[in-house]
Amino acid sequence: MSSSEQATRPGIPNHVGIVMDGNGRWAKSQGKVRLEGHKRGADVARQVVRWARDLGIRHISLFAFSTENWNRPKLEVRALMGLLAMTLPKTLPEMRENGVRFRVLGDISPLPAKARKAVEQACAETCDNSAIDLILCLNYGGQQEIVAGVQHAVSWAQSQADPEKALAELTPETFRSMLWRHDIAPVDLLIRTGGERRISNFHLWDAAYAELYFSDVYWPEFSKQDLQLAVDDYAARERRFGKTSEQVNR
Ligand code: IPE
Ligand code: IPE
Ligand code: MG
Repeated sequence: MSSSEQATRPGIPNHVGIVMDGNGRWAKSQGKVRLEGHKRGADVARQVVRWARDLGIRHISLFAFSTENWNRPKLEVRALMGLLAMTLPKTLPEMRENGVRFRVLGDISPLPAKARKAVEQACAETCDNSAIDLILCLNYGGQQEIVAGVQHAVSWAQSQADPEKALAELTPETFRSMLWRHDIAPVDLLIRTGGERRISNFHLWDAAYAELYFSDVYWPEFSKQDLQLAVDDYAARERRFGKTSEQVNR
């Protein structure tokens, strides 16, 4: 068992997902162009993985580019892809040193070749690391993931002796095993920075029971202390999964 599969410390979320929002507004507030916000945001993304590891978090997923982000101005999309292609290879030594296993969630096939290759290289070169999983969500959309899951379920059912019965007996657990996230731990804590109170198509399936935490801090200013605040807030919550408080505390 790799250490990223080992039990997490009590009160520490096993998987934290972050909507890294507010790069553009931070840049504007500093009189800078949006790309400067994204650059600063990429630095914080590198650091947050180490902070998470130090706290005992085993899996961290970072929303870097949504399926909807293709609708941004072409120049910004190109800059974001360029930033990814440039930053990832530079981050490899640090990931090796810190035991980070890099993974990706989303369909990377439409990414520009340079960015796609950088992602594939990072996955290949860190696959044996086990201190923490970094799941970068790229061209990721929760609705798209669920639609792909439905398509998977239908073709799986068609391969069964009684397809109709197979579909009728499908459970949420079996269906999750057909989603892109099938081998990713369920999200325990979902953080969004930048002040908006919405999910924006992130981790929809797991959002069913993830604890939500919203921070007004713009992502480029997110600090270790801000992560600690979110984790402390999580630790004080009671996750009941539909049960009563008495049942949970029995
Ligand atoms: C999040 O910051 C980064 C990406 C979506 C790539 P934004 O770029 O959305 O920043 P705001 O919301 O405009 O401030
Ligand atoms: C969500 O942020 C996507 C990422 C952080 C990558 P957005 O800034 O794109 O979300 P909306 O458009 O405000 O909902
Ligand atoms: Mg935004």
